[in-house]
Amino acid sequence: MEVNDEVVIIGAGISGLATALALHKKGIKSVVMERSESLRNTTGSAIGIRQNGWRALHQLGVAEILRQTAIPIHRERIVSLADGKVEEIPMGGETRCLRRKDLIDTLYDALPPATVKFGCQLESIKLDPNTTKPVLRFIDGSSIFAKVVIGCDGVKSIVADFLNLKPTKMFPFCGVRGLSNYPNGHSFAHEFLRIRKHNKLVGRLPIDDHLVYWFCAQPYVPRDERNWEDPEEIRRSTLDLLSDYPKEIQEMIEITDAKTLSFSHLWYRAPWDLLMGTFCKGTVTVAGDAMHVMGPFLGQGGSAGLEDAVVLARNLAQMGSFHVETEKKVTVQGVEEAFNQYVKQRKMRVVRLSLQTYLTGMLLGASSRLKKFICIVLLVLLFRNPSGHIDYDCGSL
Ligand SMILES: Cc1cc2nc3c(=O)[nH]c(=O)nc-3n(C[C@H](O)[C@H](O)[C@H](O)COP(=O)(O)OP(=O)(O)OC[C@H]3O[C@@H](n4cnc5c(N)ncnc54)[C@H](O)[C@@H]3O)c2cc1C
Ligand SMILES: *[C@@H]1O[C@H](CO)[C@@H](O)[C@H](O)[C@H]1NC(C)=O
Ligand SMILES: *[C@@H]1O[C@H](CO)[C@@H](O)[C@H](O)[C@H]1NC(C)=O
Repeated sequence: MEVNDEVVIIGAGISGLATALALHKKGIKSVVMERSESLRNTTGSAIGIRQNGWRALHQLGVAEILRQTAIPIHRERIVSLADGKVEEIPMGGETRCLRRKDLIDTLYDALPPATVKFGCQLESIKLDPNTTKPVLRFIDGSSIFAKVVIGCDGVKSIVADFLNLKPTKMFPFCGVRGLSNYPNGHSFAHEFLRIRKHNKLVGRLPIDDHLVYWFCAQPYVPRDERNWEDPEEIRRSTLDLLSDYPKEIQEMIEITDAKTLSFSHLWYRAPWDLLMGTFCKGTVTVAGDAMHVMGPFLGQGGSAGLEDAVVLARNLAQMGSFHVETEKKVTVQGVEEAFNQYVKQRKMRVVRLSLQTYLTGMLLGASSRLKKFICIVLLVLLFRNPSGHIDYDCGSL
């Protein structure tokens, strides 16, 4: 066991990169261990970022760069195909839809060179019995001591297992996503369109004047035999499913770039498990989906991870003891205290986001009028302002 890294982040997704960047901006060096062999900027489609997410991106110093990559979205249009009802709602705050690639590349480029180490898949974490320092063991057999571990390793988080968090659950839905390019420009309004029919939902957001992002949420079919790894099969199935949707939706799916087509199960950490769980142990904690994977029904999962990064780095920097000439060093007691504060400051925010997401998802899938009614009542009672979640301000770094 040679290396003795101070702060180790597991996973170079949105939240791992954002956390490394937030720490870097506070003068705290970290290393990010990512299992894939290179930056995950070739797959994936796009992500909607609302006002709260832009606040976090501003703190990370990358909002201005990212604004150049996507147009602002001004309103929501919600269409119900079953009864022909159309609802238009102005979008509060800044909303844009970013290519995942632009977000990942921008965060990565803002980091000092060699912050991310690729091809490092974490296998387990243990506490060294003598020093109580976390020992990270990787798939290739190597091990390192770390002073601080931040698990940003997504829905199947090994760090979350180490913290004894309850397993994540799956919504009875799945999601298909893609990007469609219109070489001569699309003529769609700068709006977030949602078209619903029974328990199918299609969303469409323009990224710029040529590119649009779309997703389709549909009930999960048990014992599904389709090969969801094959983009052409995803396309065929989605076209079949949406045969009763407007022609422009079908055309959009026909021209989707196969590389961007993906299928995903929708995972969540139950809001009550979030409320009860312990999200740090000593100098180990989690952020992003590893902490609070929540399903896409509010489009807040990624932004919540950006907020985590800002709050975590702020607390760590406040509690650290500082070496004047060199980089800031953090003491073990300082880190424990900082992580307790971080979890305390994040908990109710992510519980509320997850609960609203959960109820919104359950409403989409509700099989009976009674279940629908219960979801609506709870949503109205608990979330009087349905878009109140965008007003959250994670504060300054
Ligand atoms: C259909 C859908 C639509 C969505 N839409 C939106 C939206 O509009 N707006 C929004 O804000 N959010 C949205 N989200 C949520 C958002 O995508 C996630 O919250 C976000 O990507 C999570 O980022 P993360 O970095 O926490 O996790 P991930 O992106 O899962 O990254 C985890 C990283 O850790 C690595 N890793 C995992 N295990 C290990 C290991 N053992 N060792 C080393 N590395 C490891 C992985 O390779 C990966 O790079 C959506 C999600 C879905 C499924
Ligand atoms: C992905 O990121 C790497 C590292 O920044 C970069 O060299 C590469 O060009 C990017 N790939 C794509 C497809 O943009
Ligand atoms: C812990 O300390 C004991 C006694 O000093 C030593 O024999 C043992 O190898 C140490 N264990 C580890 C994992 O370093």
